Formats: sequence, C-alpha cells, structure tokens
Amino acid sequence: MNPLDYRQWPTTSKSIYGSIKLGPIPRPSSILITGMGGSGIVGDVLRDYLGGRIPIHVVKDLTVPDWVDASTLTIAISYSGNTSETICSSLCARERGSAVIGVTTGGIMASEFRRLGIQVVQVPTATAPRFGFPQLLYAALSIIDDAVGVNGKEVEESIAAQEEALRDVSLAEYVGEQLLGAVPYIFIDSRVQGVAVRFKNDLNENAKTPAIVAPIPEADHNDIVTLMMRHSVKHVLIKAGPNPVMEAVESVFADFSADPVKLELKGDGLLAKELYGITLLGMATLHMAEKLGVDPVRTDPIDLLKKRLGRLC
Ligand code: F6R
Repeated sequence: MNPLDYRQWPTTSKSIYGSIKLGPIPRPSSILITGMGGSGIVGDVLRDYLGGRIPIHVVKDLTVPDWVDASTLTIAISYSGNTSETICSSLCARERGSAVIGVTTGGIMASEFRRLGIQVVQVPTATAPRFGFPQLLYAALSIIDDAVGVNGKEVEESIAAQEEALRDVSLAEYVGEQLLGAVPYIFIDSRVQGVAVRFKNDLNENAKTPAIVAPIPEADHNDIVTLMMRHSVKHVLIKAGPNPVMEAVESVFADFSADPVKLELKGDGLLAKELYGITLLGMATLHMAEKLGVDPVRTDPIDLLKKRLGRLC
C-alpha cells in the first residue's frame, strides 16, 4: 500500500503545533469551526476533544446560527482556500461581530481575508485536502491554545498515537480487507465519533465506497434494529476504552450473529485515540483503494460540482 502523506503526519503535526504566531485573540465564550469535508473534519475532532470544556459549534454550511456574536471565536478552515461554503459562513460570522481566523494553504481565503484584515494561518500543502489533516488540525489547536489554553501533554500524546498507528499498518490492511465489496456500517462510541465521520469520508473519497455512521448510544435506539435482517453491509465496532454501553452492544451483536470488525482505539486520552483511529483507518482506505484498483487521490465529482457551483456569496 502506498501510504501517500501518512508517514509525514507526525513530523508535520510537530512542526505546525506551537510554531504559529498570532495577534491577540479576545477570550471567547464559544468557538465556531467552519469547514467542509477534509477541512471540516477538524471541527468534529475538536468538538469531541474540547466540547465538554467550551461550547464548540461545527458549521458545514453557508451561514452561521443567529446566536453567533462578538463572544464567539470563528476558526474558518479550508485547505484550498476556495471552498464557497467556508468563505461565506466565515464572512457571515464576521458580520455578526465574531473574531475570525482563517486556516488555509492559500486561495481566495488567504487573499480576501488579508484584504479584510482577518488573520490567516497559512499551512503547507499536501497531496489533497484530506491528507493535509495534520497541518489543519494542529494549526486550529494552536489557535485554541492561544485563545483558551490546551493541555500540551495531550497534544504530544496525540502525535505519539499517529506514530503508533503507522506501526500498525498490517492491522490497517486487515481492516481494509474485511470491508472490500461491502458497505461498512460503523458503530462507534460517540465520545470519538469524529473518527467514524472521518473514516466514512475516507471510505468515500479514497476507496470510492459508501458507508454509514452509527454513533452509540443513539444507534442503540434505531440502527441496531437492522441486525434483525441480513444486509450487504459489514459491521464495524469502534471502541474507545471502558464503556458498559459498548459491551452491551457487542453482546447484542453476538446474539444476532453479527460478526463486526472490531477496533479498540489505542492512546492515552481522547485526542490520542482520535488520532490513532483517523491515521489507522485512513491507511485502511488506501489499502482498499489499491485492492479495488481505484485512484485514492482523485475526487472528480467534487471537483466538477465545485466548478458548477462557483462562488455562492
Ligand atoms: C478533498 C477533500 C474534500 C475537501 C472539501 C473542502 O481531498 O477531502 O472533502 O476537503 O471539498 O475543500 P477544502 O478542504 O479545500 O476547503
């Protein structure tokens, strides 16, 4: 399997985190993270990690909620800098008085934000937006560290977890093998649901494969009923440490003779577990792409759609 940018992820993460110099940021009472696809996933991960400490709202749309005001810090993330939804929603937040900081490799976001006096963190490029995940995530973490403080040890552990996942490449290949030709149905401990969202996106974009995300405990009240019939899905069960609800779900899976691919996320804290899962499962989708004979990098329908839509605000 060609791991593309994955082998550089830990080094990239280290070099980005802490190296970012920003002007003063007013202390926010909430954080809004806007971005789409491979950029927007940063919001899901940060909400899982920090959402219990400070309200984090993730926007994957053209506008922001009415409550956004000067007490909200908006982090606008667009790898290319040209994604209309992200530009429009961040400008909408700015109109409401929110301080906005852009994270991008360049594009319209870099030029337009700078012209408007909005701070921009410019990050290095990658093979495609989703493979630039470390630079986007650790830039956003640096911004949040400046604004409200972040536990440095947990950040270090998350980089070590990426290294651990890179060592587990044969496990990644095994997971990928199990999912070939089926629709992965991903049941996940909701504390780390960003891992499943990212996995679904990587399955879609790298392996051109559809997938379903079922966060537990909500899935215990709907998705789990589908075990009563045979479908052409392959169940995946992603665990993140001790959780009696996950144990109960596992036992119901066994009672209904479902045979899920099980993955226990390694890592000391929530952020480390997320980074372990995202790195390992990303590589699993690259392995699938190779086995399926598809180019993991190309995303022609996304590119075509963006061209058709043009600038939306
Ligand atoms: C492509 C990819 C996409 C993009 C999305 C938003 O690799 O992952 O999901 O991330 O279309 O584009 P950017 O990230 O440039 O704002």
